[in-house]
Amino acid sequence: MGSPLRFHGRVVVVTGAGGGLGRAYALAFAERGASVIVNDLGGDFRGVGKGSLAADKVVEEIRRKGGKAVASYDSVEAGEKIVKTALDAFGRIDVVVNNAGILRDRSFSRTSDEDWDLVHRVHLRGSFQVTRAAWDHMKRQNYGRIIMTSSSAGIYGNFGQANYSAAKLGLLGLANTLAIEGRKNNIHCNTIAPNAGSRMTETILPEDIIQALKPEYVAPLVLWLCHESCEENGGLFEVGAGWIGKLRWERTLGAIVRRKNQSVTPEAVKANWKKICDFSNASKPQSIQESTGSIIEILHKLDSEEEILPNPTSHVASTASPGFASAIGYKLPSYFSAYTELDTIMYALGVGASMKDPKDLKFLYEGSSDFSCLPTFGVIIAQKSMTSGGLAEIPGLPINFAKVLHGEQYLQIYKPFPRAGELKSEAVIADILDKGSGLVIILDVYSYSGKELICYSQYSLFVVGSGGFGGKRTSEKIKVAIATPSRPPDAVITDYTSLNQAALYRLSGDWNPLHIDPNFANLAGFEKPILHGLCTFGFSARHVLQKFADNDVSRFKSIKARFAKPVYPGQTLQTEMWKEDNRIHFQTKIQETGDIVISNAYVDLLPPSGIPAKKHPEGGELQSTLVFEEINRRLKDVGKEVVKKVNAVFEWHITKGGNTAAKWTIDLKNGSGKVYQGPAEGSTDTTIIISDEDFMEVVLGKLDPQKAFFSGRLKARGNIMLSQKLQMILKDYSKL
Ligand code: NAI
Repeated sequence: MGSPLRFHGRVVVVTGAGGGLGRAYALAFAERGASVIVNDLGGDFRGVGKGSLAADKVVEEIRRKGGKAVASYDSVEAGEKIVKTALDAFGRIDVVVNNAGILRDRSFSRTSDEDWDLVHRVHLRGSFQVTRAAWDHMKRQNYGRIIMTSSSAGIYGNFGQANYSAAKLGLLGLANTLAIEGRKNNIHCNTIAPNAGSRMTETILPEDIIQALKPEYVAPLVLWLCHESCEENGGLFEVGAGWIGKLRWERTLGAIVRRKNQSVTPEAVKANWKKICDFSNASKPQSIQESTGSIIEILHKLDSEEEILPNPTSHVASTASPGFASAIGYKLPSYFSAYTELDTIMYALGVGASMKDPKDLKFLYEGSSDFSCLPTFGVIIAQKSMTSGGLAEIPGLPINFAKVLHGEQYLQIYKPFPRAGELKSEAVIADILDKGSGLVIILDVYSYSGKELICYSQYSLFVVGSGGFGGKRTSEKIKVAIATPSRPPDAVITDYTSLNQAALYRLSGDWNPLHIDPNFANLAGFEKPILHGLCTFGFSARHVLQKFADNDVSRFKSIKARFAKPVYPGQTLQTEMWKEDNRIHFQTKIQETGDIVISNAYVDLLPPSGIPAKKHPEGGELQSTLVFEEINRRLKDVGKEVVKKVNAVFEWHITKGGNTAAKWTIDLKNGSGKVYQGPAEGSTDTTIIISDEDFMEVVLGKLDPQKAFFSGRLKARGNIMLSQKLQMILKDYSKL
């Protein structure tokens, strides 16, 4: 249970502490060592009259038990006086429990101005006055705990309590903002909606219930929330009879009810009503940024997409089949995108190519003899097929696109980009994953020049709050991000982004105002506009190309990156790189903060022309070649059976004299399996790096693969557990 929660040295003001709940709080605080200001005006429950008796009695009770307390007879409307009493008596103030209250119940039409005003003055204005008087003292001492007392009448409404309900929910609004304003000074503000037997409830509730709902059952929550060790801030709790529950807001995914450049009609609202009120996959916004951010994103979507409103038929279809599975395999409309040298130069400038480096001239000057388009321009072409519409129209995918974050990016180049041209992009939903807190859409985009495939891009789009539908968590279709080696990087390139970086990058076609409009960025919860993730991606890829491929774009095979954090234009990027054969692992940091913004990333390079990877530098024949060929032969008979047992793709890097001499892939996942020379055509589950000699030892049973792994002679990346299945393959199918 931990040590008892004590309040020694803490000074606590409890308003309305002359009876009911307030008295229970005051006694409990005093019993645990606090010095208590027992405030009570001493009137009746309707707020008529006043007197000192109520407060005095409680003070006496506390003192009798050896506690410390002083009385305050002021109305909460005179908050300053109450706080002054605390400061005069004990020299500080740590906790304010706003509890005083009255009732003026009337049906709404009979509520007089006086009934309305008095209830508001005591509950809402009174809590404001006392808290404001204490606030600066709390700020100065960098510590404070505040309780607001709301009511289920405010949360849910209650017949005959319009004035009281309004004031009580007003207190929740006040608490929400104080929680935000106080946070940096360690001032926490929480709200309770109690249920207790008191003089306030004795006219409403039966006697036995009143007895059962003891104020002593509520006080422990108040004490916990006011303890220095409690981190809760901005919470709302219903409490009574020894039960406590927390409340929060929930919001439906809603529906967009207008088209670009058109007004909203009541008919469109009516047509979408079911969807607007459908709480399946609802989100739980926790801040104004989260709430308005998504609304602003919708504005942007409406602005940037040609048509967003699902027509009534597609809406019916999507609600009729809420399973996301039907969306897998959906093809977005083909998209044609023409570009010229101007576009590729603009892109190069956007990702930081600069005249500072003479080697960048080939990306910036169309008159250069080796003028080239940066390979990562491929994501610009592919992205246009998404942002030009279609993504919001996928049948069976009724999700809130305003909550989409770019999680990961893969790009594979099959042919360097022509200096100008027109590419056709075909996008398809490759898979949909359920990550609990959200869903992930795996979108594959193939971009062709005529019939020739130029590049393939894979976007992993994370849709916040749409998960939990019972879908699968992983997919064999996803290009996996790979952790960077743990040794210090082999190379680091530092590059400045300018304050205009996002302003420049967006000209390549990503018009999201989040990257340029300060107000928009604020509403989305950022201090200022952020740099495009794919801009940082372009910077990093350029660094790898520069460092390890001498800016030769024909050597750029593929890139995978995970977006970890935003970058602000003007920050310095630092790309850390590790070379492992033709794979360059990298991560990108912000130099000023040390934050990793791109993680688990790599670029695969093709070997420089003239040196094919499969031939090892010493030229000699590899013994392992025979083994792989033999495995391939034997697989023909038993392939299906092995695929069932193993279900994995292994990529082998066979080294000779410390360099990679050959790559082989054993695919025991697809069809009846196959073995071929070269890296895996699709995704790899496990990559194994071993010398030609050790490989033979393993095959001949002289070296145990696990021991080889632990002694460092065999290295494995990816799903290492799968390498256990290797023994089976090697033992059963490669005895020579
Ligand atoms: P209560 O009537 O026993 O206690 C309220 C106390 O506030 C009284 O002692 C009264 O003299 C004092 N007070 C009234 N006006 C004041 C003023 N202007 N300045 C200083 N003191 C003043 O009622 P109870 O039930 O203990 O209620 C405490 C709080 O809990 C109230 O804010 C009430 O609205 C709230 N509440 C209580 C519920 C319950 O089930 N008892 C339900 C929901 C909310």
